[in-house]
Amino acid sequence: MNNTMKKSVKKCNFLLFCLIALVKTGCVKPIDNIITVIGTGYVGLVTGAGFASLGNQVICVDINTEKIKMLQKKQIPFFEPGLQELVHTVATTGHLSFTDNVGDAITKANILVIAVGTPSRADGHADLSALFKVLDTIICNMNNYKIIVVKSTVPITTNKKIEQYMLEKGIDHSLFAIVSNPEFLREGSAVYDFLNPDRVVIGTNNQAAAQCIADIYKPLKNGTVPLIITDTTSAELIKYASNAFLATKISFINEIANLCDHVDADIVTVAKGMGLDVRINPYFLNPGPGFGGSCFPKDSLELCATALAYNVPLDIVQGSLVVNNNQQELAVKKVKELMGPDLKGKTVCILGLSFKANTDDIRYSPAIKTIELLQKELVTIQAYDPVASSHMSVLFPDVTYAASIDDAVCNADVIIILTEWDVFKKIDWQKVRSQVRQPYLIDMRNIVDPVICMDTGFVYQGIGRGSYKNNNYVYNARPSCN
Ligand code: UGA
Repeated sequence: MNNTMKKSVKKCNFLLFCLIALVKTGCVKPIDNIITVIGTGYVGLVTGAGFASLGNQVICVDINTEKIKMLQKKQIPFFEPGLQELVHTVATTGHLSFTDNVGDAITKANILVIAVGTPSRADGHADLSALFKVLDTIICNMNNYKIIVVKSTVPITTNKKIEQYMLEKGIDHSLFAIVSNPEFLREGSAVYDFLNPDRVVIGTNNQAAAQCIADIYKPLKNGTVPLIITDTTSAELIKYASNAFLATKISFINEIANLCDHVDADIVTVAKGMGLDVRINPYFLNPGPGFGGSCFPKDSLELCATALAYNVPLDIVQGSLVVNNNQQELAVKKVKELMGPDLKGKTVCILGLSFKANTDDIRYSPAIKTIELLQKELVTIQAYDPVASSHMSVLFPDVTYAASIDDAVCNADVIIILTEWDVFKKIDWQKVRSQVRQPYLIDMRNIVDPVICMDTGFVYQGIGRGSYKNNNYVYNARPSCN
C-alpha cells in the first residue's frame, strides 16, 4: 500500500467513524428501509418526498412514463406549494429517485406504499381497479418479505380483502403484512401537513409492521405526533369519518349562512361566536360555494354507499351532500336575484376556478356547476385563475380565459368570486369600478371587505352577510372580526 492509498484509507476510516458517531447520537438515521411509493399523484409524491426528507431511501414509481420523465428532471407535474423545493432537495441528496419500472422498484423495496387513485364509479362506490392491478404486480414481484402500506383511500374492509387476495394468490402469510395508513393531506398545504400531522393512523394485525411504520414517522414534530395503532377497518373508517365530518361541518355552516341572508344576520360574526366554543372550534366554518375537490364529495358518497350496503343509512352525511349540491348553484341564484332572471347577453366575470386556493385542481370545483348554469343563460364568461385555467379550458373551451384580473373584469356586468386566492383579497375595487360595465359583485368566499367595496359604488353580495345585502347596511353595525 503506497502513501496515497494509506492516506485515503485513513480518511475513509475517519469518515466512517464520524458517521457511526452521528448515527449513534441520533443525528443521522441509518438507511435500512427501502420504500417504494406506487403512484405519483399529490398524495404519493408528497408522501415519497416526505419519507425521503426523514432520511429514508425512497423510490417513487408510476406507469405514466411522461410524468416520470418530468420528475427525473425534478419538475413537478402539478401545482403544490413547497413540493418543488422538497423534491429537488431530496432528489439531489439521492434519497429520492423516480422510475416507471414498477416491477424493479417493487423488488428493491421492503416497504411498498400504494398511493394510486380510487375515483368514484357511477354507483357511488370507489373504483379499485388501479389498486388491484398494483397488487397483481406486487404478487408477480414478491422476492422477499414486504410491508404493504395502503395510503389510497379505500372503502371499509378493503385492507382485509387485500390480505385475503394475496393469500388466495398463493403468497404465504409470513411473506407480507398489510398496513392501512390513511393520509390527511390537504391539497395546497400537503407538504406542511405531511411534516406536521395532527395524528398518524396505522391499522394492521401485525405488531412488528406497525412498529416499523411508526418508526418512519417518529422524527416528525420531535416524536410528539399522536399515534393511533388499530385494526385495518377502524383505520379505514377514521379516514372516511373524518372527511365526512368535515364535509358535514361545511354544509352545516353553509345552511346557517343561507339563513343569515334571510334574517339579516352576519355569518362571519355567527361563525366566530360559534368557533370560540372549544367543542366546536373555528376551523372549517367558512361558508362558500360548496365543497369540492377529489375527496369530500367522493368519500362522502362512498361512505354512504358502504353504510347502505350494511343497511345503515347515513342520513346526516347524505344530507350534507344534498346541501352541497344546492350550494354549488347558489352563485347563479344570487346573480339572478341581483340582476333579474334574464341574463342573456350579459358578461359574467368569474374569479377563481380551482376548488380552493393554492391548487390547480378543478375536480368537483363549484366553478364547474356555476359555468354550466351560466352557459344555459347564454351569457359571455370571462374567467381568471392564477393556475387552474388550462385545466378548466379542457372542460369549457368556450369560456374566455383571461391572463389577468384586469382582463377578466373588463366590461363585466357582474363579478363572481369563487376561490379564495390571496390575489383576490388584494383587489383595488376603486380601480375595478372603472373597468366594469355594471358594478355587481358576488363574493362566494367572503374575502372582500363589504364596506370598502360598497364605498366604491359596488352592489355587493357575500354569502350569509345579510346586513350587507343589496347595500342595505349600517356603518356602525360592521362586525369586529379581526
Ligand atoms: C381534504 C381533507 O381536509 C384532508 O384532511 C384529506 O386528507 C383530503 O381531503 C383527502 O382525503 O385526500 P382537500 O380536499 O385537499 O383535503 O381540501 P380541504 O382544505 O379540506 O377543502 C375541501 C373543500 O372544502 C374545498 O372545496 C374548500 O373550499 C371547502 N371548504 C373548506 C369550505 O368551503 N369551507 C371551509 O371552512 C373549509
